[in-house]
Amino acid sequence: VIRRLVGDAPRQNLLEIGCGTGIHLLALAGEFEQAVGTDLSPEMVRVASERLVHSPWPNKVSVRVDPADELATVADRSVDVVLCIGALEHMLERAAVVRQVRRVLRPGGVFVCLTPNGGYWWYRFLAPLVRRDTRHLSTDRFLTLGDVRGFVEDAGLTVETVEHWTFVPRGDLPTGVGPLLGAADKIGERLGIGWLRGGIAVAALRPADAADVGVSR
Ligand SMILES: C[S@@+](CC[C@H](N)C(=O)[O-])C[C@H]1O[C@@H](n2cnc3c(N)ncnc32)[C@H](O)[C@@H]1O
Repeated sequence: VIRRLVGDAPRQNLLEIGCGTGIHLLALAGEFEQAVGTDLSPEMVRVASERLVHSPWPNKVSVRVDPADELATVADRSVDVVLCIGALEHMLERAAVVRQVRRVLRPGGVFVCLTPNGGYWWYRFLAPLVRRDTRHLSTDRFLTLGDVRGFVEDAGLTVETVEHWTFVPRGDLPTGVGPLLGAADKIGERLGIGWLRGGIAVAALRPADAADVGVSR
């Protein structure tokens, strides 16, 4: 899904915000000239640093602590592709995060965001019915496609693609619910029913000719 949404964007600089242990960063780094991962958590960055040393790309990947709503270590218009994978729902200052994404993207650069679907029937109906708290942190907030689209458009990016993808949070589910949600996902995919699908994905471009909008928080 990520590769498809990155599409034919230039492949000089990749940035993953909320990179965690670098799973996606390291998987995609080979396709870019330089790749940077940033995260709020020093411990995540420490683990990612260890992994990248043993990766095929120790010289072209770097990771560092930098909150995504600040991105103080990333220059304006310096990045071709920004990824945010399974992280926006954990970030408190989401609007500020996406404004920073716009600031660091080069004109024509692309923002790819994958996050759980806040409109998913598990989160919205089934989990409350069986009284299951689906958040890992009390601050987690699952976003709808409309929420993500709103943050992206308010930041001055142009939405290119919105879609659902297969995400079944099996580790969080009571016994027996996983196969049900898996089957529902397949039906949702075939019939185009978004609320049966656990993941949402948005790809957005920084317009090539737009004047900069403010990046104040
Ligand atoms: C579920 S992990 C996803 C990690 C990685 N993107 C992946 O797909 O494996 C979410 C990450 O977001 C990070 N995070 C949460 N809030 C953040 C913020 N404000 N700025 C940067 N990173 C943040 C967390 O520390 C954590 O590493």
